[in-house]
Amino acid sequence: MLKDQVAVVTGGSQGIGFEICKKFAENGARIAIADINSPEKLQSAQQALQALGTEVRVYSCNVADSVQVADTCKQILADFGTVDILVNNAGITRDNLILRMSETDFDAVIDVNLKGAFYMIKNFYRVFTKKKAGKIINISSVSGLFGNAGQANYSASKAGIIGLTKSTAKELAGRGICCNAIAPGFIATSMTENFQANQELIKSIPAGRFGKPEEVAGLALFLASGSANYITGEVIRIDGGMAM
Ligand SMILES: NC(=O)c1ccc[n+]([C@@H]2O[C@H](COP(=O)([O-])OP(=O)(O)OC[C@H]3O[C@@H](n4cnc5c(N)ncnc54)[C@H](O)[C@@H]3O)[C@@H](O)[C@H]2O)c1
Repeated sequence: MLKDQVAVVTGGSQGIGFEICKKFAENGARIAIADINSPEKLQSAQQALQALGTEVRVYSCNVADSVQVADTCKQILADFGTVDILVNNAGITRDNLILRMSETDFDAVIDVNLKGAFYMIKNFYRVFTKKKAGKIINISSVSGLFGNAGQANYSASKAGIIGLTKSTAKELAGRGICCNAIAPGFIATSMTENFQANQELIKSIPAGRFGKPEEVAGLALFLASGSANYITGEVIRIDGGMAM
């Protein structure tokens, strides 16, 4: 489905990002991961994905640092020659009530979750517009659609991602490039491990369970594929019905 296409996935060494890389690799894509994770984590992700028989390179990169992002994107282009799919998935939380939330924690979340995606899009912008093709997928959250007590920074960053997605979609639609956002609900990864046994929370999800990272990856695969060439500027919830 993605034969020989080059996919860049931020935060691709674990969780949702890793499952997206896996799904893309299984469908023939060549994979570049930009991630701040430990060298051991990056290496084990690379090995697991290479075992699927595709080219995989990992780049140690803090997406909140515009200079690191520019250098990494340059290196990816030198190594792979192009980019066809960009998935802005890297994300963090620093939850607290607004009263107790420090400015540092507010900024850190905006810098990684929102500005990181902006830097990545900016650095690959010309490559996409020259090709007149490409897919950009930004990982938002239902928290960005509906807000969440204790997550003012995170919700603001994920709502910002939706604005960034729609603006990017409008700028690039005429050149055949699609930009969409995925808004997951509760997905079982290390980000949510403290809540996974919370029965009250599970009761609030109509599907009665957390989502699996591979389920988010399936949606990303669809959006990256030719089947989604006429879908742009869309935000797709994947939350077991929680936010409907
Ligand atoms: N798990 C959920 O329930 C859920 C729900 C909605 C949205 N999301 C979003 O999905 C995305 C993936 O989350 P996850 O659940 O897989 O979390 P995770 O913590 O397992 O993975 C996050 C990845 O991002 C990387 N990362 C963090 N900061 C970075 C930085 N500054 N530069 C580069 N890489 C960085 C981490 O190293 C890690 O590989 C995030 O954007 C998150 O906000 C997750």
